Amino acid sequence: MRKKICIVTGANAGIGKKAVEQIAGEDFHVIMACRNMARGEAALNNIKERNPSASVELMIVDMGVMGSVRNMAEQFSSKYDRLDVLIHNAAVFNVSQKKSEKTSEGIEAFWATNHLGPVLLTSLLLAKLKKSENGRIITISSKGLLAKPFLKVDLDDPEFNNKSFNVVNAYYQSKIAQMMFTYWVAEKLKHTAITANCIRVTAVQIDVSRHPELSSFMKWVYKQKSKRSITPEEMANTYTYLACDKGAGRVTGKIFDEHNLEVKPNKYINDKGQIDLVMSLTRKYIPEIEGI
Ligand SMILES: NC(=O)c1ccc[n+]([C@@H]2O[C@H](COP(=O)([O-])OP(=O)(O)OC[C@H]3O[C@@H](n4cnc5c(N)ncnc54)[C@H](OP(=O)(O)O)[C@@H]3O)[C@@H](O)[C@H]2O)c1
Repeated sequence: MRKKICIVTGANAGIGKKAVEQIAGEDFHVIMACRNMARGEAALNNIKERNPSASVELMIVDMGVMGSVRNMAEQFSSKYDRLDVLIHNAAVFNVSQKKSEKTSEGIEAFWATNHLGPVLLTSLLLAKLKKSENGRIITISSKGLLAKPFLKVDLDDPEFNNKSFNVVNAYYQSKIAQMMFTYWVAEKLKHTAITANCIRVTAVQIDVSRHPELSSFMKWVYKQKSKRSITPEEMANTYTYLACDKGAGRVTGKIFDEHNLEVKPNKYINDKGQIDLVMSLTRKYIPEIEGI
């Protein structure tokens, strides 16, 4: 394929969908990696209606289920010989959740979807990224982490098996792990043409009608919050910058905010010893990272 190829996970809504529209507008072929066929098709059709020349395609993946991630990686690999940009946008963040939920494979859902799935997909598609002139891995974290300066990845119990479940900690732990993974993978790949960077997403408007699981109180909270939030389209500009900008393709191992500016995380997240510990823990779930 002549066009550059980009995968965006969680592409049927919110920032991911806006990023697909923008990146497809930069003459990319964009694969919308979605977990639900009906929602994925509706989003793809909507994008095609708005821009009939957009080169977009749907692939089905549940990022929390490693078997599903493997199937999607196989499907992609049998169809394409190269991947230029991989954006790990999909995430669960149902803050109303009171109890730990396990995926069909028995892994705590935040840990599986927001951290393990992206690590596995990166590992499985690395050979294709290496075929690109300038492969790019883009992970997604959260500015909300600033309110959790002492939170760490629980190396003994990341799945809340032996302590009471805390949804906020489960979510932010997974986002810390993604930042650490970004540093780790950028270091591993520093002698290749592949870059790895993370986006620290700020407060972005959420379509609460997509989240029937939210309590009325949480819907009200999100409504108030959205008055101080930017639009998904505005946030997607940073995804597009890191995916498409020539200069951004020379930068690796950095974290960017919504103004495309580099930001620094706290010392723990950037500590090489701590990063190695988190990646050793990750390796127990995803042995494929040995290949990176
Ligand atoms: N919005 C904010 O204020 C904010 C703040 C900080 C960070 N972020 C991060 O920004 C990213 C995008 O958030 P958003 O605001 O655009 O959220 P959103 O509107 O809820 O979109 C999330 C997308 O991820 C998909 N998804 C969820 N679980 C999945 C799974 N297991 N497999 C595949 N896809 C899955 C959803 O698909 P379904 O339609 O199937 O659910 C949806 O397409 C996330 O990584 C989030 O953590 C957002």
